[in-house]
Amino acid sequence: MATDSINKSEEQESAAWKGVRVAVTGGTSGLGLALVEHLLGRGAKVVFVARNRDGVDRVARERAGAHGITGDVAEKDDIYPIAIQILGAVGGLDVLINNASSLGPVPLAPLADTSCEDFELALETNLLGPFRLTKALLGALAASAREGRSPLVVNISSDAAINAYPNWGAYGASKAALHHLSEVWNTELRVQGIQVISWDPGDMDTPLHAIAVPGADPTALRRPEDAARELISKIEGHISTLREAGR
Ligand SMILES: NC(=O)c1ccc[n+]([C@@H]2O[C@H](COP(=O)([O-])OP(=O)(O)OC[C@H]3O[C@@H](n4cnc5c(N)ncnc54)[C@H](OP(=O)(O)O)[C@@H]3O)[C@@H](O)[C@H]2O)c1
Repeated sequence: MATDSINKSEEQESAAWKGVRVAVTGGTSGLGLALVEHLLGRGAKVVFVARNRDGVDRVARERAGAHGITGDVAEKDDIYPIAIQILGAVGGLDVLINNASSLGPVPLAPLADTSCEDFELALETNLLGPFRLTKALLGALAASAREGRSPLVVNISSDAAINAYPNWGAYGASKAALHHLSEVWNTELRVQGIQVISWDPGDMDTPLHAIAVPGADPTALRRPEDAARELISKIEGHISTLREAGR
């Protein structure tokens, strides 16, 4: 009986994702990789982006059905090529997850010791990259809305967007701006049926966290797979609410 109901809920989860076209930036490590794996497992059409070609090829080779794109979301000139490849790979777009991120200065440093270049890198990767990529994909997201597919943009945020942690200034400022951008864009795009949210996954055991906090105990951190599962449930909730509202 218990097994039957577990299978049933897994089937229902999968049914919700069958054929949904999803793009994940930063899909070769940590949260992004976990999202790629879990979404593929639920039957979504998944395309992901990262800078390192070997990493992209490896993930695409090892995860059947995953489409990999090599590109840098911090580079303005990469954005349209990335957007065109996303649409070519999965034939449109329903969910965009802007997950790729830069810490800024590594090791983390007080703002007074942060170079303008490191600050710019955090803003280019964490704020302007998501802004440009979302903008380049708005036509496809609007088409998804017209087809009743309830498109959604998820910008991955952090508690550093809210709390003023010393040494996290470049990263925190970029994530705070990303959070605000998400809220403004959500109000502007709702009329077209496109929803934009920002979401904080919590502290996870990933390479990014290991670089930021080298002495942290990995066992006290969240597994990226658990964060991915939580986000996927949240997205399902958003999509079904929008569909019920008939947007
Ligand atoms: N880990 C945490 O504790 C934590 C806490 C709160 C929020 N977050 C947020 O969660 C998200 C995922 O973090 P994570 O810890 O999973 O990171 P991660 O393990 O370091 O993975 C980052 C991924 O992004 C790609 N990437 C980095 N810069 C890129 C760029 N400019 N263009 C394209 N791809 C790029 C990386 O591949 P390449 O290097 O090959 O490009 C990699 O696939 C980030 O937005 C982060 O800010 C993390």
